[in-house]
Amino acid sequence: MEKQRGSFTNKLGFVLAAAGSAVGLGNLWRFPYLAAKYGGGIFLLVYLVLAVTFGFALMVTEIALGRKTRLSAVGAYESLNKKFKFLGYLSSLVPFIITPYYCVIGGWVVKYFTVFVSNNVSNAATDDFFTGFITQPAAPVIFFIIYVLLTVGVVMLGVEGGIEKASRIMMPILVVMTVFIAVFGLFQPGAIDGLIYYLKPDFSRFSATTVLAAMGQLFYSMSLAMGIMITYGSYMKKEANLEQSVRQIELFDTGIAFMAGLMIIPAVFAFSGGSEEALGKGPSLMFVTLPKVFDNMKMGTFVGAVFFLLVLFAALTSSISLTETIVSIVRDKLGWSRKKACLVVLVFLLAVGIPVSLGFGIWSFIAPLGMSLLDFFDFISNSVLMPIVAFLTCIFIGYIVKPKAIIDEVEVNGTFKNKKFYTVIIKYIAPVCLVAILIFAVMEAMGVIVV
Ligand code: PHE
Repeated sequence: MEKQRGSFTNKLGFVLAAAGSAVGLGNLWRFPYLAAKYGGGIFLLVYLVLAVTFGFALMVTEIALGRKTRLSAVGAYESLNKKFKFLGYLSSLVPFIITPYYCVIGGWVVKYFTVFVSNNVSNAATDDFFTGFITQPAAPVIFFIIYVLLTVGVVMLGVEGGIEKASRIMMPILVVMTVFIAVFGLFQPGAIDGLIYYLKPDFSRFSATTVLAAMGQLFYSMSLAMGIMITYGSYMKKEANLEQSVRQIELFDTGIAFMAGLMIIPAVFAFSGGSEEALGKGPSLMFVTLPKVFDNMKMGTFVGAVFFLLVLFAALTSSISLTETIVSIVRDKLGWSRKKACLVVLVFLLAVGIPVSLGFGIWSFIAPLGMSLLDFFDFISNSVLMPIVAFLTCIFIGYIVKPKAIIDEVEVNGTFKNKKFYTVIIKYIAPVCLVAILIFAVMEAMGVIVV
């Protein structure tokens, strides 16, 4: 690495930067559709339990690993044990799988922004608008390309700083708008049933799939199990209180996901009747439900346009951090200039993203494991690779490096209040649960068991 490793100037700077990477489409688009699909309250409950146990332990581990070694994933694992270098590579693989399809969704957000700006809200609120759009051959690909160019352009010009600053103004506005839209939605007839569905756990809906889905979402949303938090940690100052910072990032990230669910799920009940079919819409949920909300609002076109612009910003900060990660992996490995690496990554994103986009229309015959290409990539990264990386990280820290190394790093500044809890999770609870869940999920995907 040719550049000097800088540090975040203050603690808040670190928390905000990490939160900027963490808060994105994962919170606003992915969390609500999973919660709607996997039984509402039960999914929310499982997610929250996992966040304060697994999520907490893994994030502490990754950030401490980075801060201790002052290296990114591959180097960090290697420096502690040569044999575990592969784990660094494995986690570095994840952003390569996520980024292309992340940008496809980003393209959909751009499209919705333009629809609202051009005052077509009632059009967008019809049931078939979304499907009509994504199944076209050209339009979604064009919006995807626009989004990729925006992302790679920022990474190439190295103006992340400006984007980061802008998002510090936009993020708080996004939070306020989410609250406003949620409250508006809750006042619509029928919405209360949705609120109950979202908040009241129905234990009969509990299954291994619920846990796996929630866990995959946790990793995705908090940017864990893909080496990114290790890199962030490597920039963190020793004086900052690590445990407290992790708590803050978690609270922020989970708070926004919770609000997004509150904004979308009651509205599904109010505007689409809360049937199993309406709730199981998957990746399209946000795009199908929110236009209906805006269509019923005074000045809905304006509110919708502003909303999708803010979502676009949240998405961009995340895809920029993902792309930056890929670019730096490529550069570290091949010693290329930033420009060359960016161009090659651009070609890669287009080559993988265009089929993902076409997978909803003319290429829908490509259906690995019976899934759309987007769902397939999402499944491979979130339900397979990330749990494997998380499992191996627990084994590595729990039994080879030993939790003490992480605890000492956290205690460079202050005491690690939850260190016993941390040790138990990393050594016993997390690895056992991860293996069990992974086996169940793979069996289910292959159709061996039916839930
Ligand atoms: N956590 C981001 C989200 O919720 C996605 C992301 C993952 C961003 C990894 C950066 C790195 O959208």
